[in-house]
Parts: sequence; C-alpha cells; structure tokens
Amino acid sequence: MSSQAEIIQAAAILREGGLVAFPTETVYGLGANAMNENAVRKIFAAKHRPWDHPLIVHLASLSQLADWASYVSPDALLLAQAFWPGPLTLILEKQPWVLDAVTGGQATVGLRMPKHPIAQALLQTFGGGVAAPSANQFTHLSPTTAQAVYEELGASVEMILEGGACEVGLESTIIDMSRDEPTILRPGMISAQAIATVLGRSVTAFGRMQAMQKVPGMHLLHYAPMTKTRLIASADIPGLWRLLTSDDLPAVLLTYSHHLNDLPSLRGAGGVDLLLKEVMASDPTAYAHDLYRTLRRLDQQHLKQIIIEAVPETAAWEAIRDRLSKASGSTG
Ligand code: TXA
Ligand code: MG
Repeated sequence: MSSQAEIIQAAAILREGGLVAFPTETVYGLGANAMNENAVRKIFAAKHRPWDHPLIVHLASLSQLADWASYVSPDALLLAQAFWPGPLTLILEKQPWVLDAVTGGQATVGLRMPKHPIAQALLQTFGGGVAAPSANQFTHLSPTTAQAVYEELGASVEMILEGGACEVGLESTIIDMSRDEPTILRPGMISAQAIATVLGRSVTAFGRMQAMQKVPGMHLLHYAPMTKTRLIASADIPGLWRLLTSDDLPAVLLTYSHHLNDLPSLRGAGGVDLLLKEVMASDPTAYAHDLYRTLRRLDQQHLKQIIIEAVPETAAWEAIRDRLSKASGSTG
C-alpha cells in the first residue's frame, strides 16, 4: 500500500498538471486534474484514446456533486447516497465550466466517488475532481493491479500508487440520470435490480439504448486480450477436443462450472498439454474479482486461443457477460 507521503506527492503531481495512476475498488485509474485541459489531454495521449471519449470525474465527497453537475435530480441524489462511495457512475447535466476535453463535448458529465482508501486519500488531499479512465491502453483490458498498470503505461505516468488487487475487478456501473428514464449505459456489479430497488421504479437496461447513443466503451473489442478469445457453451465443453484443430492450439479453457478432472485433455508430441485449464470461481463476485487479472496472465502465455465458458444468463452475471462478449468480440 502506498504511504501517506506518497499520496501527498501524488496530489502535488496532480496540482502541477501531471498524471497519477491510482487504485479504485473497480480497476486502476489514470488520473489528471479535471480542471486542467493540458493535463487531461495527457491522459488521451498516454492511452492513445480517441479525443471524443468522455472521462469520469472522481470526487472525494458527495458535497462536490454540485460543483460538476448543474442539476442533481432527487433520484440521482438517492443513488449517490445509496451507493457512494462505490462502483456507480452517474451521468448528469454538466456545469458550464466542465471542460469539453473531459466530456467529449457532450452536455453531460460522468461522476463517481470511489471507495478504495487510497483513492479517497488522494482525492481528499488533492481537493478537486480527478478525471480518470481505466489505466490501460485504449481497447486493452483494464488493470486490476499496480503491476498491470506499469505494463500498460510504463513511463508515461509520473507515479503509480500501489493499492493491491482491486476488490470488484470490473469497471463501475454507469447510469445516465440526465434523461427522464434512468438508463444503464454500462452494466457493473451494482445491478439494474439494486438500482431499481433504491429508486422504487424500473430502469432501462443497457442494451436497449446501446444502438441509439454514442457511448464509447460500448463498441466491440473493447476490454479485449490480444490473444484470440472466444466463448463456448457449457454443454459443448466435453466435446471441445473435437472442435479444435492444430491451428487453434495451444489453447486455454476458462471454466467456472466444471472441475479440473472432468475436463477434456489434448496432448501433443512428447505428451505436451495443448489444452490448458483454468478453473474460475462459480460465484459472480469472486469471478469478477479475478477475471481481468486471469485474462492478462493468460494473454502473456503465447497461446493461440483463450476459450471461455459462457456464464449464466442471470442478472448477477450481467456485467461479466457484457465484458466476456466484448473480450471475444461477439455481440451477445
Ligand atoms: O470503474 C470505473 O468506472 C473506472 C475507474 C477508474 O473509476 N473508470 C473507467 O473509465 O472505467 P473509462 O474511461 O475506462 O470508462 C468510462 C466510460 C467511458 O468509456 C464512457 O463510455 C462513459 O464512461 N462516460 C463518461 N462520461 C460520459 C458521459 N458524459 N456520457 C456518457 N458516457 C460517459
Ligand atoms: Mg476503460
């Protein structure tokens, strides 16, 4: 864990217009002073991210909401009170002074108060809003460890704060509260159901709005490993060995519902194992926690394919389903 002295140094870097990577409970973020246009531009350069993709502004406390949002509806306030600090981003009408570089020129701004103690300490010490996307190269997997941030960004970030493995492991739920119908733009581990319960009314699930609105991060092959990745139905796993040709191997099979000794084997010359196996947790919270770190590790093993067992169609797995379909470039 980073020390108090390191947090003070990181806040000073932010004040001087530099970049700091920091842990949140979801994934690591690449932060800049959200009021400094030059600093915000450095984020896009470091990530090779297209200029029109809006950034989330991270806040130290709920009392800062009105500094960034011109209108906070009673429902938006209810959500902030229920889920902040935590993995929920609210899209709200922006104050006129919020930089176009942050919002991608849109009339709205994404706001979130993270829960990780290092993120909170950094935000409190800095005092202002910190614009931060996930600390990865554009289209890559989000980093969930400081080591992964270093692999993604190296020297282009002045400081990386160490905060261990991220608790949630997937990016925040994003809900657009700037329109009449609350609309989920990106599913996360705070579910549509949990939000609907707090609001006492239904929310529009993400898929429906997807095609109609420009939402960066919603296109295919975002959050993707470099290795070719595909999904397989649980029922097809026992016969998997028949579906694979030498062009597909070596490969790894990522499963959550099978035990290692139930899984098919494929041996090459000299008894080399051509189908590696990785057994994930069967509980969605634990699965989400491990997913990106596991994919990142597998991506470094020079395999021809990562084959991932499709996860259940239930609400608890929705965010994971979304990230898996993006990792594999499928439209599921
Ligand atoms: O968990 C998270 O949200 C992490 C941590 C670091 O906080 N951040 C994150 O940022 O995932 P990023 O930039 O990788 O994804 C944020 C997404 C953008 O791709 C965009 O889709 C959406 O937030 N977004 C931001 N501002 C928006 C706005 N004004 N309207 C619509 N979508 C917006
Ligand atoms: Mg991202």
